[in-house]
Amino acid sequence: MGKGEVLVEVRDLCKNFGVTVALDHVNMQIKRGEVRGLIGENGSGKSTVTTIIAGIQQATSGEMFYKGKPWKPQTSLEAVKAGIGIIVQEMGTIPTISVAENIFLGDYDKFRTGIIINRHKMVAAAQKALDDIGVTDIKAGDITAKYNMEQRKLIEIAKVMAHEPEMFVVDETTTALSESGRTILYNLMHKAAAEGKAVVMISHDLDEIMEHSDTLTVLRDGVIIDNIEKKDFEANDIKQKMIGREVGGNYYRVDMDGYEEDKVVLKADCITTMNNLLCFDLELHKGEILGIGGLSECGMHDLGRALYGLDEVIDGEVRLTKNNIKITSSEIAFAHGMGYVSKNRDTESLVMNASIGDNIASTGYKENRGFGPFISNKKERQYQQLQVDSLAIKCVNVFQPVSALSGGNKQKVVFGKWLAADSDVLILDCPTRGVDIGVKAAMYQLIYDMKKAGKSIVLISEELPELCGMSDRLLIMKEGAVTGEFFRKEGFDNNALIDCMI
Ligand SMILES: Nc1ncnc2c1ncn2[C@@H]1O[C@H](COP(=O)(O)OP(=O)(O)O)[C@@H](O)[C@H]1O
Ligand SMILES: [Mg+2]
Repeated sequence: MGKGEVLVEVRDLCKNFGVTVALDHVNMQIKRGEVRGLIGENGSGKSTVTTIIAGIQQATSGEMFYKGKPWKPQTSLEAVKAGIGIIVQEMGTIPTISVAENIFLGDYDKFRTGIIINRHKMVAAAQKALDDIGVTDIKAGDITAKYNMEQRKLIEIAKVMAHEPEMFVVDETTTALSESGRTILYNLMHKAAAEGKAVVMISHDLDEIMEHSDTLTVLRDGVIIDNIEKKDFEANDIKQKMIGREVGGNYYRVDMDGYEEDKVVLKADCITTMNNLLCFDLELHKGEILGIGGLSECGMHDLGRALYGLDEVIDGEVRLTKNNIKITSSEIAFAHGMGYVSKNRDTESLVMNASIGDNIASTGYKENRGFGPFISNKKERQYQQLQVDSLAIKCVNVFQPVSALSGGNKQKVVFGKWLAADSDVLILDCPTRGVDIGVKAAMYQLIYDMKKAGKSIVLISEELPELCGMSDRLLIMKEGAVTGEFFRKEGFDNNALIDCMI
């Protein structure tokens, strides 16, 4: 039971989902006797790495070792039987079967005599499993649906513990638990570590994870940024590592030019949507770059969709002040001079098998009308070429399909589309995501040029340096509400911004 001995090791673990790289050469050693914290923003790969260790899914490449031997579980049951359990982030119980059946799911054989499963014995064993973790108000013979979400989490915990794991993972479990439930779980974690077992605890609650873990691994975009020992835990340092992306080069605007503070062009008045936003107010001014930042699930992407009429606003309203138009759909937004660059570029902003030219022209038909309803072919061609040239889109010609372009060049086509449409108000949701530095620089220049031309821009981004580099004003959001407002003219303070996010 030697504490400090490596129990689980992952080497060069990679996991891809299509083009998404969820894990990028991850290396970890989990030792006996430790509670290992795993922290990182949403989507950083925490659940992916632990579900692979626990047999729920398989890696794309890389190796794992458990107790010094190669480890490649094909199912979670295989992992559970070998001593690795996981309390998953989602609900892990089946409501329509009994508590006892959930606790021993897939493992009923041990209660079998001949062809008969001894239910009485199984219920008694399940009751004991619940007792062992200190839960007294759940009856193992009851149907699971009878119990609330917290009680079902406790059933899952009992299930994992009933198999006496050598290591178990707790994936964002405490959010579903009350104070007493958390105490039960924390005690189980620390007891296991004291007995020379290992625990991996995932949470995005920094205080909680700092309190309960011995070592902390910080993940960002599928890469391990650092492993920190308890004695070196320092909240600001960890936050920076979670979020702070490298600030490379100096391609942001350097001016301190203002905007027309008394001229509101777009106004959201106490808007509420089905997801995330509750009575949200916003005013965008002429010539303003309004940055919106926060952790990825803070509601900023939902805000962008609501402003452009893509998500239904169930209460309150979004209005363009110029002609007092209420935005109730993206068609109306588009028809009145708004543009939107989606975070999901490939599926929402471009028609992949259409040509570059047609994608660019898709918003610009009204400028290209020759006579009556007909579109002048020649004019259209010229105009597409103009965009390709001015944006320096790397392509053979405008007839090439958009799908043939690199990510950065695709994004330029998306920009070209809206430039072509000469939109007055642009909602940009992570416009520089996944593009290289050169293209980024070009985009920042374009955004700045638009501002100078009197256009108004909402810049939603997960990258703080970009927001600080480009915004006139910056709103930080958390859980669907604004937690801080900052102004370029006063200077942006990174730490103050981060404090509003977490
Ligand atoms: N089944 C899946 N299909 C496609 N993409 C996925 C799937 N599971 C996870 N991802 C992606 O992999 C990345 C890491 O996800 P995840 O491990 O769940 O993050 P975390 O648990 O840190 O929030 C994210 O970009 C996520 O969108
Ligand atoms: Mg997760």
